[in-house]
Amino acid sequence: MATDLENKLLHETLLQTPKEFIDETERYQELMMTYFAAMREVQTKLEILNDEFKVVKRRNPIEMIKVRLKKTDSIMQKLHRYGLSKTLDNIKQINDIAGVRVICTYFDDIYELANMLVKQDDVILVQIKDYIKKPKQNGYRSLHLVVELPVYFSTTKRMMRVEVQIRTIAMDFWASLEHDMKYKNNNNLDPGLKDELRLCADVIADTDKRMQKIKAELDKMG
Ligand code: GTP
Ligand code: MG
Repeated sequence: MATDLENKLLHETLLQTPKEFIDETERYQELMMTYFAAMREVQTKLEILNDEFKVVKRRNPIEMIKVRLKKTDSIMQKLHRYGLSKTLDNIKQINDIAGVRVICTYFDDIYELANMLVKQDDVILVQIKDYIKKPKQNGYRSLHLVVELPVYFSTTKRMMRVEVQIRTIAMDFWASLEHDMKYKNNNNLDPGLKDELRLCADVIADTDKRMQKIKAELDKMG
């Protein structure tokens, strides 16, 4: 069953049919409902992996899973940015209408979970951006996957894309604060502060690695 929060998300998205699609409200809503379903499929797959870990390895690799559907105005802005006209077909070219963010406990959990997900028979890896091996200029770290998977409805099967962002608690801590700071300053951060933020990202990444090493030592000791 979808949680109250998820139902609220679907409800809000369906209520916000953009004026450009008002003549096709039903098709627009159906498309969003389909993305919502795909997002929940991915969420369930990850929850199942977490459950298995819990039983077999006696720990949870996932701290938290956050899901979101892209807001109507962001969809419209992205179509504009891509130079695409506002049609339902073009919306399907946006890979992150459905987004799942996975917050992992340890560094190694990121790649382990990503592999377990993309190895599944019904999951196709469409795109991978490894901002951990190659962090963004500002220090941002995260593993981004775009996956495609089938969702089954009463009479149809649809292949849907979902963006999955996988990061540690530490990476998420940095990304949340950086996002907040950027947002509050309209994306204009002073160069000195940018350097300072980048430095924080590096310190955090180093701490992540050290915590992983401590865990490995503890595992060895049994
Ligand atoms: P978008 O148009 O923003 O989706 O960018 P993109 O298509 O180039 O995708 P990319 O994989 O680079 O980033 C997509 C998402 O990752 C964003 O929507 C954010 O959620 C997250 N992200 C990317 N870069 C940053 C960053 O510098 N800081 C933070 N806080 N989040 C980021
Ligand atoms: Mg995005």
